Amino acid sequence: LTIEENLYRPNFHFTPISGWMNDPNGMFYLNGYYHLYFQHYPDGNKWGPMHWGHAKSKDLIHWEEMPIALFPDEMGYIFSGSAIVDHENKSGFGVEGQPPIIAFFTYHNTEMQNQGRVDFQSQAIAYSLDEGNTWTKYDENPVVKNPGIHDFRDPKVVWDKKGKQYIMSLAAGQEIRFYGSKNLKDWKFLSEFGKGVGNHDGVWECPDLFPIKVQGLDEEKYVLLVSINPGGYNGGSGTQYFVGDFEEGRFVLEPSLQEKMSNYHDYWVDFGKDNYAGVTWSNIETEEKEKLFIGWMSNWQYANEVPTEKWRSAMTIPRELQLIANDSGYRLSFVPTKTLDEGKSEKIKTYGRMDISEPKELLESESIPLSSASLTFTLMNAKSSSVAVKLKNDVKEELVFGFDHGSQTFFVDRTHSGKTDFSKDFAPKPSIAPRIIGSESLQVTALLDKTSIELFFDNGTTVMTEIFFPEQPFTELWFTSSGENAQLDNIKLSELKNN
Ligand code: FRU
Repeated sequence: LTIEENLYRPNFHFTPISGWMNDPNGMFYLNGYYHLYFQHYPDGNKWGPMHWGHAKSKDLIHWEEMPIALFPDEMGYIFSGSAIVDHENKSGFGVEGQPPIIAFFTYHNTEMQNQGRVDFQSQAIAYSLDEGNTWTKYDENPVVKNPGIHDFRDPKVVWDKKGKQYIMSLAAGQEIRFYGSKNLKDWKFLSEFGKGVGNHDGVWECPDLFPIKVQGLDEEKYVLLVSINPGGYNGGSGTQYFVGDFEEGRFVLEPSLQEKMSNYHDYWVDFGKDNYAGVTWSNIETEEKEKLFIGWMSNWQYANEVPTEKWRSAMTIPRELQLIANDSGYRLSFVPTKTLDEGKSEKIKTYGRMDISEPKELLESESIPLSSASLTFTLMNAKSSSVAVKLKNDVKEELVFGFDHGSQTFFVDRTHSGKTDFSKDFAPKPSIAPRIIGSESLQVTALLDKTSIELFFDNGTTVMTEIFFPEQPFTELWFTSSGENAQLDNIKLSELKNN
């Protein structure tokens, strides 16, 4: 293996074998396989003419990369989008009782763009009759023409039970437009959403509208994810969310959120710098499974410059999403997919209650590799004590994360984590995040891979995801604290292995 493969190729996150990757696209579940498509430029390691790459997995951890699904053609590059299983063959593309899979994507026409036209993006479809392996583009594309909107892309399709039609969410400038269809081919404009609410510091992209049960209640709400670039909580790319209802073709924001969702709000899927353009899997509800999300683990500020050559960028760990209700309204929570711990841990270390008023080193040299591990712990008194967790290596690089009780905020600090100088925006300062739903104690789960950390605080109501590029793997793990009576409990370090 090359140094790059050894040092940077993730242990349990999806990366393409070679070439450029950005957004996850067209995810659906069928016959035991989770399918993942992705924005891909197979012939280079920077963004270029977009294809849809393809990978599939039985457990969301081990991925098999498949042949490229969609190639650019004379109508344009193949931009982001979604896919659904057309069980009742409403599209008419199915044959012999075989339900077609329909993919929705954006054609991005660079010739039209270079001519200075605004209508260079339009929506198109393709169908597959072999479970998503090969695709035929519809001969009457586009199915949604551009009405004269400069940024008009990223169709995500969902079934609307009440309205008895399919809904397509589309990013249009700094708004979301909804379209309706009965046959997945003819689409009618319904409504738009977004004026005056949410962050508007950048272009809106990759929407995802879906119904979801409120945790523990007999109530259903609609969630709308909207990626924005720039405008993210710690700069650059980020994904905000809205909670409301979908009625008569309109998304109606929960009234209690109206005021809270000003330009600088705290309704973010992830507060770290590296989770963008994430959307959910389709066809899982019908299999009575959970709602599942995956994001692109990078940021447009520096995605093209990160120090890998053979491939560029990875996806986040797939996450289960829940909608919870409390006194102050509705919040999303995200936790790593359960399939991550199903028999994956070969080595586990647990520790009893630990006083950390003096710095404590947790890990002896030969034990669990910090480049393939999950660390969980509870900080006992989050009202009066803070904690910082430090990963270190032999060349004095460090990655630090933790919690500050004074400001009730979380942080990730990659400023001294290795290579950072490829972009001034990569690590100008630590990233911070607010505590969204806190109690006396603080529960933390950290997923550690070679080049990424994913932090799930307070049962995933605050999440932070960041990437880093050390010169050597991190081998030491330290806890330090400030404040009074800093104690940890339920400390557990498990090895995660992708083989
Ligand atoms: C988001 C995005 C999408 C677009 C795709 C192009 O990262 O800009 O809006 O479809 O990437 O690769």
